[in-house]
Amino acid sequence: MASTVLVTGGTGYIGSHIAVALAAAGHVPVLLDDFSNSEHAVVDRVRELAGVAVTCVEGDVRDTALLRRVFHDHPVTAVIHCAGLKAVGESEARPLAYYDVNVNGSLRLAEVMGEAGVNRLVFSSSATVYGQPDVLPVDEQAALRPHSVYGRTKRQTEEFLRDLARANPNWHIAILRYFNPAGAHPSARIGEAPRGRPNNLVPLMCRIAAGEYPELSIHGSDWPTPDGTGIRDYIHVQDLAEGHVAALAWLAQHAGARTINLGLGRGYSVLEVIAAFEKACGRVLAKAFGPRRPGDVACYYADATRAEREMGWRATRALDAICADAWRWQQAGGRYR
Ligand code: NAD
Ligand code: UFG
Repeated sequence: MASTVLVTGGTGYIGSHIAVALAAAGHVPVLLDDFSNSEHAVVDRVRELAGVAVTCVEGDVRDTALLRRVFHDHPVTAVIHCAGLKAVGESEARPLAYYDVNVNGSLRLAEVMGEAGVNRLVFSSSATVYGQPDVLPVDEQAALRPHSVYGRTKRQTEEFLRDLARANPNWHIAILRYFNPAGAHPSARIGEAPRGRPNNLVPLMCRIAAGEYPELSIHGSDWPTPDGTGIRDYIHVQDLAEGHVAALAWLAQHAGARTINLGLGRGYSVLEVIAAFEKACGRVLAKAFGPRRPGDVACYYADATRAEREMGWRATRALDAICADAWRWQQAGGRYR
């Protein structure tokens, strides 16, 4: 059934794709963002792709007075909570900011949702909560051993949400653990637009192929993997966005807090991703092996069967589509300004 859905962090990389997917499914997205890591121009792009009026409220997810106004002004029946800080390296230097925005932001949101009688919540968690899993593919029952402050803020928020649902059976909460989101909307109107030099593999390759940076450093050639480079589960951001629409439908029928992996269910090494990207862009990237990046792990990919079994959703777009769409976005500028 169509509903009004608040998307916090709704002008960010993932939130903007979710907003468009919500509209395509007949929902009405309301975006909340403080634009600390996004551009105002995203809002018009989302409106263009959504083809419907999309409200965007500028403000901080920790601002309870603002949140109360949003719930008062809009008939919100569910929230997708993407707002947060996500740079792993920065989180080590700024733990106060990361715990405040990621954990406290989630507490404040849940507080106001409770007051407003809105009990359906989808939370953006991360596969980084697993650290290096003992068993692959990694399923939702695996031990949580995050390697970074960022990962620990996700683990703590997850624990809080499980406690909340245990204390009050009215809550319907989906905790979605994203693996490695990448790619862009096929229209190339929205995509990942990191400020400065990208840290992540796919956006960095886009900018190297476009001539903005000279060379890709492959972080380690001696990982215990078949070709010695790190293995990850890359999920197309469009699949990820549609996973949230599926989660909302599922939540309508299910109380409690449920944790669900969102991944493709298979891993690719850095060398395999580079080869797929070179094919997509028709260029050979300058690259060299460098040392391992601190905090990285060798290998993880999702056991994605719970999402399919319980929510009827699975990722369908393969690595080639991720690379082709990321490159199309880069060729369209790869930025909002
Ligand atoms: P993003 O930075 O593009 O989007 C986050 C948005 O939240 C930004 O638009 C930012 O301006 C906004 N924001 C930050 N602090 C805020 C605050 N206090 N109040 C209101 N808005 C605030 O990041 P993304 O890649 O779209 O990630 C979205 C969510 O998914 C995050 O919670 C992130 O931790 C999680 N996640 C991302 C990845 C990934 O690789 N991109 C992987 C796993 C999980
Ligand atoms: N890599 C390189 N060179 C680079 C950048 C990355 O070799 O310049 C390698 C990494 O070592 C890793 C792989 O490419 O093996 C993917 O790295 P990314 O930085 O793209 O992604 P991560 O797996 O490190 O982290 C991502 C998100 C995190 C999230 C995590 C868990 O950036 O926010 O996935 O799912 F927490």
